[in-house]
Amino acid sequence: MSNTISRQKFLQYTASAGAAILLSSLEGFALERPEKRLRVAIIGCGSVSNRYIPHLQTSSMIEIVCLCDIKYDRAVSQNKQYNVKAQTYPNIDAMLTGVPFDMMVTLTDMQVHGELNKKALLAGKHVWSEKPMANTYAEGKALLDLAKSKKLKIWGAPAVVNSPQFEFMSKTIQEGKLGRVSSAHGQYGHTGPNWSAFFYEKLGGSMPDLGVYNIATLTGLLGPARSVMAMLSIVNPERTVDDKGKIKVEAEDNAHILMMHDKNVISHVMCGFNYFDPHGHEAANQTLHSIQIYGDYGNMRLIGYDWETNGVMLDTSWTEPPKLVSTDKSGYVWQEGAAKVGESIISGTEPRINAEHALHVLEVIEAARKSQATGMRIKLKSKFPWPMV
Ligand SMILES: NC(=O)c1ccc[n+]([C@@H]2O[C@H](COP(=O)([O-])OP(=O)(O)OC[C@H]3O[C@@H](n4cnc5c(N)ncnc54)[C@H](O)[C@@H]3O)[C@@H](O)[C@H]2O)c1
Repeated sequence: MSNTISRQKFLQYTASAGAAILLSSLEGFALERPEKRLRVAIIGCGSVSNRYIPHLQTSSMIEIVCLCDIKYDRAVSQNKQYNVKAQTYPNIDAMLTGVPFDMMVTLTDMQVHGELNKKALLAGKHVWSEKPMANTYAEGKALLDLAKSKKLKIWGAPAVVNSPQFEFMSKTIQEGKLGRVSSAHGQYGHTGPNWSAFFYEKLGGSMPDLGVYNIATLTGLLGPARSVMAMLSIVNPERTVDDKGKIKVEAEDNAHILMMHDKNVISHVMCGFNYFDPHGHEAANQTLHSIQIYGDYGNMRLIGYDWETNGVMLDTSWTEPPKLVSTDKSGYVWQEGAAKVGESIISGTEPRINAEHALHVLEVIEAARKSQATGMRIKLKSKFPWPMV
């Protein structure tokens, strides 16, 4: 779950000038709003809002005050369906001049996240964004710089680093229980969403929608990637989707991404929209693994998916069979990111999720596209605080 520290520890930890500014803004926030509930505005009331709205409603520190969608009837019907009692808006400009709120939660088509997140930051709002935070690394980095300059926070999905299974795997690697780690693999796919065209349009694709989870997990466990090589393809050139009927697929629906990390560790992610997997959306009963990490003294496999973790199969013995360990999810759910970071604003703690990591994942995705276009290995520049646990 979120990497919470006591307020006293937070004060010690925040000796740096930047952190002091953040703390003073949080103090001010607490003073201005003694009831300590973060006012949240949700933009994008489609499929994933059915997971976010009920989850945000479980937090005593959060109140959803606005719902917005350019398909306005969706904002109205979600307001009714979940008894939110929020103000509803047909576009972001109307929402930003409407009832006051503290944090925007961006759940729209991927391609417009960057421009919407920028408008929210410019209007003085914190942001939690579904993936990706922006369309390019440069756009995302500019958003983070803007947020810092305005003493605001921005974070990007996914929330995979929050799971107890991520924590267990990270500690197992850091404590040397696998020996010297050399290789890792992650995979995530299903047969593709059938409700919206944006998944298949330019700057969509299986990498920012699905591979993003595995890239976040593997970089989170092994450290920042230093270079990337990839092959991407379109396997299914035409799709029929609910909002636009028959469409041409313009973004990859099949991706293999190789990442080189420090100490010559190599990892591989495969993702796609043409993978038969009966557990692709509901995975509580998945008993097979989707992530594996190999060292010279042991290996481990994440059972289920990094977004729906069902345990870790750990193999460190020449004689004993592998053991299923770390099966307790402790309440972790993939849609928890917005609630966790919102609560961190109220409680003045630093969540484990950080924007630098989300930006690094975005740089990997962009580099994979460049590698496919040029046939070259692409060097990366971004880093993030690591190890994360
Ligand atoms: N559906 C899922 O299960 C799921 C799971 C995890 C993450 N996500 C991510 O959530 C995001 C949304 O996916 P979805 O499946 O809910 O898509 P969706 O098409 O069901 O919903 C997107 C909504 O955003 C609205 N929208 C688009 N542009 C807008 C704008 N400029 N202003 C206001 N509203 C706008 C659309 O009208 C639509 O109602 C994507 O980034 C996706 O990768 C989806």
